[in-house]
Amino acid sequence: MSVDALSVAWAARVEAALERSLPAETEIPARLHAAMRHAVLGGGKRIRPRLVHASGYLLGADTDALDAAAVAIELIHAYSLVHDDLPAMDDDDLRRGRPTVHVAFDEATAILVGDALQALAFRVLAATPVPAAVRIDLVATLAEAAGSRGMCGGQQLDMDATGQSLAMAGLERLHALKTGALIRASVRLGALIGGADAGLLTRLDAFAADLGLAFQIRDDILDVEADAAQLGKTAGKDAAQEKSTYPALIGLDGSKKLLLALAEKMKAALGPLDVRADALRAVAEFAVARAS
Ligand code: IPE
Ligand code: IPE
Ligand code: MG
Ligand code: MG
Ligand code: MG
Repeated sequence: MSVDALSVAWAARVEAALERSLPAETEIPARLHAAMRHAVLGGGKRIRPRLVHASGYLLGADTDALDAAAVAIELIHAYSLVHDDLPAMDDDDLRRGRPTVHVAFDEATAILVGDALQALAFRVLAATPVPAAVRIDLVATLAEAAGSRGMCGGQQLDMDATGQSLAMAGLERLHALKTGALIRASVRLGALIGGADAGLLTRLDAFAADLGLAFQIRDDILDVEADAAQLGKTAGKDAAQEKSTYPALIGLDGSKKLLLALAEKMKAALGPLDVRADALRAVAEFAVARAS
């Protein structure tokens, strides 16, 4: 199967698995369940689930097990977006081409949606059909990536840096945590399910760290260059809110040069791996060139 065909097949599996994992809108409390479904279903590039599948594919991992990890990481990501959009954080009213959860529902519901999606993610991951020892590694990996040493920590640094000008090392750390942590976890979950050895885990982690940074730099560039119709979220908000971003620190040209350098580093990291790594290579190419 071609990389494109594989990606389409994985995306369909993930969409169905996400749908199955979420409580029905009619289940009490219906408002919370409807809002959780609003947050997760009907949009999103699903790049993190795709990474889980792509890294697992490299090792011939079981696809049902990969689906579980893919769902878990996407639930954490969806929760992070719901909370990121809250008035207390980025105060956004548009997400994935639709009203944000606190706008479509209300703020208290949006807070609970995030809490519930995070819990559901671990519920799903704990049921991954792999040996118990691997399952513990998966849960620990996701917990580490989501918490104060990962995504949440990055969101705190993002808040602290708003209106400030960070030096390059500080901005890199911010991006590595707020976005890089879940991207790295995506690759690691797939690799752990596939039984990767320590050497391969290290190689894939170096790749994923660059991918996470590239993904957020591209997000920063698109916030400047794209419009809401293209992005499905409000553009131009970073400058308006005085966020610490790569375009703000090194300009658009500098940011684009850095993306090209990261693309080369990612190619080098995957260099020795055979054609089964092409799905990962394709995600790397997408991350640096994407238009939405
Ligand atoms: C947006 O993530 C937030 C970042 C971490 C840059 P995505 O660009 O993956 O958002 P969706 O899931 O496609 O909506
Ligand atoms: C958000 O970064 C990262 C997380 C949600 C953890 P941004 O604030 O730049 O994401 P967007 O631009 O709102 O999607
Ligand atoms: Mg933010
Ligand atoms: Mg935001
Ligand atoms: Mg952004």
